[in-house]
Amino acid sequence: MLDPAERLDPEALRALQLERLRTSLRHAYDNVPFYRESFDKAGVHPDDCRSLSDLSRFPFTTKADLRENYPYGMFAVPRDRVRRLHASSGTTGRPTVVGYTEGDLSLWADMVARSIRAAGGRPGDVAHVAYGYGLFTGGLGAHYGAERLGCTVIPASGGMTARQVTLIQDLKPAIIMVTPSYMLTLLDEFERQGVDPRSTSLRVGIFGAEPWTERMRREIEERCAIDAVDIYGLSEVIGPGVAQECVETKDGLHIWEDHFYPEVVDPLTGEVLPEGEQGELVFTSLTKEAMPIVRYRTRDLTRLLPGTARVFRRMEKITGRSDDMVILRGVNLFPTQIEEIVLRTPGVAPHFQLRLTTEGRMDSLTVRAEARPDADAAVRAAAARSVTAAVKDGIGVSVAVEIVDPETLERSVGKIRRIVDLREDRG
Ligand code: DLL
Repeated sequence: MLDPAERLDPEALRALQLERLRTSLRHAYDNVPFYRESFDKAGVHPDDCRSLSDLSRFPFTTKADLRENYPYGMFAVPRDRVRRLHASSGTTGRPTVVGYTEGDLSLWADMVARSIRAAGGRPGDVAHVAYGYGLFTGGLGAHYGAERLGCTVIPASGGMTARQVTLIQDLKPAIIMVTPSYMLTLLDEFERQGVDPRSTSLRVGIFGAEPWTERMRREIEERCAIDAVDIYGLSEVIGPGVAQECVETKDGLHIWEDHFYPEVVDPLTGEVLPEGEQGELVFTSLTKEAMPIVRYRTRDLTRLLPGTARVFRRMEKITGRSDDMVILRGVNLFPTQIEEIVLRTPGVAPHFQLRLTTEGRMDSLTVRAEARPDADAAVRAAAARSVTAAVKDGIGVSVAVEIVDPETLERSVGKIRRIVDLREDRG
């Protein structure tokens, strides 16, 4: 059964959003000094929000704002109403802490349950959760959502790859929830153990927490005969379960916008862009209690599209984060663009890494991709030429390409690190 909200008509949805938005802005303003100051400074008040488009008059919130208010400064409820903390996977500087009331945890479980259902999961299914458990929101978020839907959950977490394969063979899950890069590691392990991954009980894979491409979908679906769908989320908004691709259309992710209101803005000017234009995704929570978030800049790049399988708007698969964009001799390049090219090149395995170095005074990029085990020297040389040419023609920049031996690149157990930055600091 769909949630009643998934069956609203567009007008009723907009009315619900506006009512919730006004309440949420007021909650933030009344209870978080940071929001009171930032709204006052911008000369806006929650009462100024009379239509959904009025939201654009409110100031943005950034990761730096969360860092400055570390650890509890963004909380809108007394600390003793906060039942759980998570921390975002910040790679630099202070982490950011997020908090949940009992109500928030319940909303989160509902949103992940809704996501799993949209992905094709059903009550009674066995769900193998191989997202990491801990401060990362992936494991526990998926876990409670799967339980909420009525699944039998295997809390495998990340790592101990050989054992994961045994668990999947013995416990026969229909659903796997894991990063797409760790799914590749699992598929390699199946093959190493002499098990055909197409023969398992798995029917649906719910992959997210990092960017992945249509090519990667095809690679995974073909190798293990499942439906591979995309799940999106971020700790600052709630965790996984902000948006989910529906299995029947596989055409981008429906945003659960009865709770998380999306905008796409020009990353440089902050101006709201019309539907269909590519820019930075921004979220405002509509119902969160412990940590309401107003116009949070995700740094994720995508565009908004009208709903198809659901009334909610979709976001296109994420191209990348602005932080992961490499600017090479003036040309912008995302790891997902390289993924598309590597995965369509014969003789190359779906494992690659981008290495940035300094050559003279210039930045230089080397694409290191693994050969398939059966690729001989001639196939490897042809693959290197083909990737070089495809990057030059498709992206417009020259890169070096190394086809390395099988099993030599670092494997993922969670979110994969695509870019290794070895550039000299020219501060
Ligand atoms: O990665 C939450 C999550 C867990 C989502 C499991 C899906 C599955 P954070 O660690 O806070 O939270 O990282 C959030 O990861 O801003 C994106 O850059 C990236 N990301 C998450 N899902 C996707 C996706 C979790 N489906 C950051 N496609 C986000 C591309 C994604 N990038």
